[in-house]
Amino acid sequence: EMPLLEQCYNLLDFEAVARRVMKKTAWGYYSSAADDEITLRENHSAFQRIWFRPRILVDVEKVDFSTTMLGTPSSIPFYVTATALGKLGHPEGEVVLTRSAHKHNVIQMIPTLASCSFDEIIDAAGPGQIQWLQLYVNKDRAITQRIVQHAERRGCRGLFITVDAPQLGRREKDMRMKFTEQGSDVQSGQATDTSQGAARAISSFIDPSLSWADIPWFQSITKMPIVLKGVQRVEDVVRAAEAGVQGVVLSNHGGRQLDFARSAIEVLAESVPVLRSLGLENKLEIYVDGGVRRATDILKALCLGAKGVGIGRPFLYAMSAYGQDGVDRAMQLLKDEMEMGMRLIGARNVGELSEGLVDARGLFNH
Ligand code: FNR
Repeated sequence: EMPLLEQCYNLLDFEAVARRVMKKTAWGYYSSAADDEITLRENHSAFQRIWFRPRILVDVEKVDFSTTMLGTPSSIPFYVTATALGKLGHPEGEVVLTRSAHKHNVIQMIPTLASCSFDEIIDAAGPGQIQWLQLYVNKDRAITQRIVQHAERRGCRGLFITVDAPQLGRREKDMRMKFTEQGSDVQSGQATDTSQGAARAISSFIDPSLSWADIPWFQSITKMPIVLKGVQRVEDVVRAAEAGVQGVVLSNHGGRQLDFARSAIEVLAESVPVLRSLGLENKLEIYVDGGVRRATDILKALCLGAKGVGIGRPFLYAMSAYGQDGVDRAMQLLKDEMEMGMRLIGARNVGELSEGLVDARGLFNH
């Protein structure tokens, strides 16, 4: 018996339903993470080591959590991050996310490895809707150049270059699900390339030689703001600022790449003071993703200096379980939580979300 949509009260509820109703292979691909999934769990537990220091007796009758990201407006400081293979979860794929994003005035990052074509996802957007492109860099740079310049022509407002995946991580749950489905492989004892799971099969074009030396080339082929997605240490945040890119996403790819990578929120807390001491804090925007499930997670990230956060799996789960209505509701739930969270910590707008509103001492001492 499947719960009614109205019985999903928060983003984690969608995950529980999706686990029950999704095809095993699809669930395996969406939910899996690298190796022992330690980083996947850390992405959640790191947020639980941060506490609030709410301000009282602030007039919070009206709260406004609208913001801008890369210079464009958003109704709330989260965006739908890039997640590949949307049609594993829903026959219509990524355009379902596009429509909800439009309805809620939320930014969507379009994945290189979307199930829908890039143009289908652009065409599904409403007037004025903001979309970004997530780029896996192809060994053939002529192809990469074509993808980037096409995206810019079609109105994309940001180029997010994924830098944490010179090779895709080993997601054993994904591999096992695939293996089970191919009973013949199990019987013959022969592992084929596809027995490595959905991830491996689609990613062989990604260029592992991508380096800092390539950044000026990207800057020369596009006017879109460039953001490096998958930065994991303060030294690289500083280097990104010096390279003149417009932003970084602190991210461990939802725990799907290097197991024992730290959480983005911890890297954020490490990075902001260093950027400040070097006078670089206004040189670039910092985004974080991984494990964001509650508005309180968003608030914590913004208090610690993030411009916005990316959310991945919850929208895939909502889409897989309930289609369009599910994604709509997931976004509405976050907005409701956000309004309450702002009121309860005593912040009237995102400009008032500052370090003093959190106690992050436990983040590093655990
Ligand atoms: C991803 N992610 C990802 N990132 C990217 O740069 N290119 C991609 O194609 C994908 N594909 C992808 C598929 C699936 C199923 C997942 C779950 C994730 C990573 C994604 O952008 C983001 O970093 C994480 O999903 C954030 O963590 P949460 O919100 O899923 O916990």
